[in-house]
Amino acid sequence: MKPMRFGLIGYKFMGKAHSNALARLPMFFETDVPVERAVLCGRDAVWVKQASETLGFKEIETDWKKLVTRDDVDAIDITAPSNVHRDIAIAAAQAGKHVFCEKPLALTTADARLMQEAAEKAGVANQIGFNYRFAPALALAKKLIDDGKIGKIFHCRGSFLQDWIIDPDFPKVWRLDKTVCGSGALGDLCAHVIDAARYLVGDIAEVVGSLTTFVKERPVVERMAGLSGKASADAPRAKVDVDDASSFIARFENGAMGLFEATRFAQGHKNDMRIEVNGEKGSLKFEFERMNELWYFSAEDEPGEQGWRMIQVSEGVHPYWDKWWPAGHVIGFPETFVHELYEFVQCASQGRPCAPNFADGVAVAQIMDAVELSSQRCAWVDVGEI
Ligand SMILES: NC(=O)c1ccc[n+]([C@@H]2O[C@H](COP(=O)([O-])OP(=O)(O)OC[C@H]3O[C@@H](n4cnc5c(N)ncnc54)[C@H](O)[C@@H]3O)[C@@H](O)[C@H]2O)c1
Repeated sequence: MKPMRFGLIGYKFMGKAHSNALARLPMFFETDVPVERAVLCGRDAVWVKQASETLGFKEIETDWKKLVTRDDVDAIDITAPSNVHRDIAIAAAQAGKHVFCEKPLALTTADARLMQEAAEKAGVANQIGFNYRFAPALALAKKLIDDGKIGKIFHCRGSFLQDWIIDPDFPKVWRLDKTVCGSGALGDLCAHVIDAARYLVGDIAEVVGSLTTFVKERPVVERMAGLSGKASADAPRAKVDVDDASSFIARFENGAMGLFEATRFAQGHKNDMRIEVNGEKGSLKFEFERMNELWYFSAEDEPGEQGWRMIQVSEGVHPYWDKWWPAGHVIGFPETFVHELYEFVQCASQGRPCAPNFADGVAVAQIMDAVELSSQRCAWVDVGEI
């Protein structure tokens, strides 16, 4: 059977997460086609060669333009920073390759739309890396909502809190450079929460938000890095042009209210993504650092027996679980990437649309751009305006 041969661009944080997922996918999930780690791409030949050996790729490329036209590659997986997503995804789609792209889809909604158009025109599978929705507990929340267990939805409350750049001497890494990442906490963190909210509750019609940059200048980093980096003691300082924190209120198209916050300045919070949904008949809440658990309150339980119950989502009756371990042998962050790549491979081989796909990436980009515009205008913005 013809395998799906992956060309992966980037080999650091997400590059490792995706390589690990591609290696484990065939060990646990039965896919329609075998998956191959074919070519790893990075700009520095020595480093990419070293990484290809560690991450199990057969060959290397140092120019993504050559990678996307190679005959021995069927799918392009983009784990480089957001400033290169657009050009790579469009070129890959035009070369007839299936495309998986990390979030946020692009620097702007306009660029994200170009990517969606290119992928749809080429008829290739396209998926975006909103891996949090592949946590089985969040997938279960979606099932309970779809089954009508919490009824009409009134509220959706989401947050994503981290604390890694509170030190004003922490250098200006690429996640703080608008030309590379597009936005700060909003695009890096809130994008996941917005996707989870759309997945669970539906589309957002309008937003009003506020963005803040607490530390306005930071030392120039010695070597470009995403989450860590060094600067010399006498390094000059450069302007930080992205948000350190962002928050917004939303009105969903179905009438529900939304409240969202993302920050890199919440001391003590490491990767604290949470979402709660309150409906007429019940509520659900999820926090990623306890990702095997889903909290559920049902107003339909017997009076006197009502209360929050914690469902440990770790047995075969739950989404994705039949492929893993015996009940209670919990899974973690890396497995969400196995699940999303399983979805991608199956959809590509069966010709089904992936979920979440580039259209979802565009929808999230629209909401984020609307939040930025609203912060500038100090007013509500209709998402359809973007
Ligand atoms: N889904 C998630 O949970 C999650 C988590 C972190 C990051 N991300 C997203 O993944 C992407 C990468 O983030 P990261 O944290 O892995 O970054 P990183 O800095 O750890 O790694 C980026 C990689 O891209 C490579 N690269 C950069 N420019 C390139 C180019 N022009 N050609 C080829 N390779 C290039 C770098 O050499 C490096 O290997 C971003 O879009 C980010 O938003 C998603």
